[in-house]
Amino acid sequence: MKNILCKNYEIHINDWSAFQQVYKKIAPSTTFILVDENTEKYCLLHLLEYIEDTVQIIRIPSGEQNKNLTTCQVVWTKLMQNGADRHSLIINLGGGVIGDLGGFCAATYMRGIRFIQMPTTLLSQVDASVGGKLGVDLLGFKNMVGLIKDPDGVFIFTDFLLTLPGDQMRSGYAELLKHGLIADKNVWETLSKNTGIESLEYENLVYESVLIKKNVTEQDPNEKGLRKILNFGHTIGHAVESYWMDSRTPLLHGEAVAIGLVSEAFLSYRIGKITENELFDIRNSILRLYGHHPKFVKPAEELIQIMGHDKKNHHGSIRFALLDSVGHACYDVHVENGAIEESFLFYKEKI
Ligand SMILES: NC(=O)c1ccc[n+]([C@@H]2O[C@H](COP(=O)([O-])OP(=O)(O)OC[C@H]3O[C@@H](n4cnc5c(N)ncnc54)[C@H](O)[C@@H]3O)[C@@H](O)[C@H]2O)c1
Ligand SMILES: [Zn+2]
Repeated sequence: MKNILCKNYEIHINDWSAFQQVYKKIAPSTTFILVDENTEKYCLLHLLEYIEDTVQIIRIPSGEQNKNLTTCQVVWTKLMQNGADRHSLIINLGGGVIGDLGGFCAATYMRGIRFIQMPTTLLSQVDASVGGKLGVDLLGFKNMVGLIKDPDGVFIFTDFLLTLPGDQMRSGYAELLKHGLIADKNVWETLSKNTGIESLEYENLVYESVLIKKNVTEQDPNEKGLRKILNFGHTIGHAVESYWMDSRTPLLHGEAVAIGLVSEAFLSYRIGKITENELFDIRNSILRLYGHHPKFVKPAEELIQIMGHDKKNHHGSIRFALLDSVGHACYDVHVENGAIEESFLFYKEKI
């Protein structure tokens, strides 16, 4: 059991009695639980053991393609038809899609009702459920409509990970690695040496990772500065992810981020912030965990063009969050296209 105190709410890890206390304090007029078909199957019964009230279940189909306003309309309509009022509560039981969409629906229904995040994927436990960002995609662009609002509580149960498919575990693990690299060298060293990602003891690993994300987002909730360090590995990672998105071989977010982490570690080396040994250590560790996929990193010009569209750029110049050292990061770093191309070559080099 672990507990992290945030400014306006608490994050509890593996603590059902804390959940019951917070639930009792909220004393909702009606309780809605948002699930998708997988969390309904694997997680819902477990949660229901800890709620005595009658609850209403709202089920939406899983997948990023459903994180949109059409699904929100379904959720808002169900809330209305089932008598949700200002004192109702929504519990978002699922991965980042459920958390982002359910939180957004709660924050906008009747100008805002209470909601609890109960993340059930590794990615959502260490990343999506922390920091208050909520929203949905629009016209195929990610997170175009949304807001930042804290939940009434975040309750993480690492046992939910037991049913999560292995590729989803690896995908989420990339965010843990990122957190270590940007904020805590010891965390990185522990994580990077692990084998068998599917069957680790996660309570402590999740705790350390959440703590890092919480500390960063609390200092800069609106991403004016420091919060940008969380984008390490993501400028290149997003470009690779977008490039393959509609192909026959799409990548999971974390698999693309793993490529981004290696390439952007190279950029950090290139600007003189980490040593060659550190760079090779990062590359070798990540390739050991994620495999080596040079075919995903081409063609460079197109990837650079995709990066040019990133919302986080300034006046057309591509800005990176990079490592200042292993366990520390800086942001808003401009890098020449030539260096970006070199970083792809570095990733692609034979092991
Ligand atoms: N708000 C933020 O700060 C933030 C940060 C990072 C990512 N995100 C968002 O998070 C989303 C990705 O989240 P995700 O990776 O959790 O994806 P996801 O919600 O699509 O979940 C992945 C898959 O796992 C299934 N699943 C969930 N829990 C399960 C369990 N315990 N057992 C078996 N299957 C389970 C889901 O049904 C789904 O099929 C993206 O939309 C991204 O934009 C948000
Ligand atoms: Zn990510």
